Amino acid sequence: MSKAIIAPSVLASDLSNLTAECKRMISEGADWLHMDVMDGHFVPNITMGAPILTCVKKGVPQIFMDCHMMVADPIKWVPAVAEAGGKLYTFHLEAVADPLPVIDTIHAHGMKAGLAISPQTPSKSISDAAFAGADMILVMTVHPGKGGQKFMPECLEKVKELRERFGWEKDIEVDGGIGPGNICQCAKAGSNVIVAGTSVFSAQSPADVIGQLRKAVDDAIAERKK
Ligand code: DX5
Ligand code: ZN
Repeated sequence: MSKAIIAPSVLASDLSNLTAECKRMISEGADWLHMDVMDGHFVPNITMGAPILTCVKKGVPQIFMDCHMMVADPIKWVPAVAEAGGKLYTFHLEAVADPLPVIDTIHAHGMKAGLAISPQTPSKSISDAAFAGADMILVMTVHPGKGGQKFMPECLEKVKELRERFGWEKDIEVDGGIGPGNICQCAKAGSNVIVAGTSVFSAQSPADVIGQLRKAVDDAIAERKK
């Protein structure tokens, strides 16, 4: 059964103090840290790559790095991210002809595999085999490429469809524009892994926001079990 996992996106952090920011978020209650890797091809921006992940892992050995790979050639970066200490490697379905060999390569490098879909990609394009192979599905709730965008509630229909089709065993992550104001919709739709950048890092008390996000997911899970 899926449980609540809260993953602050470091894109909204003070990147000049990335290790300290990751430690701070763990002490505020974060389960994972969401690392947005952008290559300037799959999306127009460039953020960070394996050398930075390596430094973070060195400074925060207990970290679970949830690596969101917004890259045009996902299979290419698997060895470097594994070597850097990435635990979960999530790539975009839009970037590949066939996700299955990428998933196999990620597993062969000792990481969990996540499969992401952007807002324009229907959930039906995730095949039964791809769902079975992946450890997590990421349903984007903004267009990938930058933080601080407006949440797109229509994307949650895809979370519902995936839960109806495949059940509750696997993790479904949502990412983009999420905070206390829309977390209940995300949780009720069936997502259990919550990425939040701006809402957590700009908060007076990140611990409070993380607590609110977690409670909404826990409540939705408890409601479903009734
Ligand atoms: C967008 C990224 C997100 C983003 C989330 O391309 O994948 O992870 O940083 O940040 P907020 O919560 O600010 O939308
Ligand atoms: Zn992301």
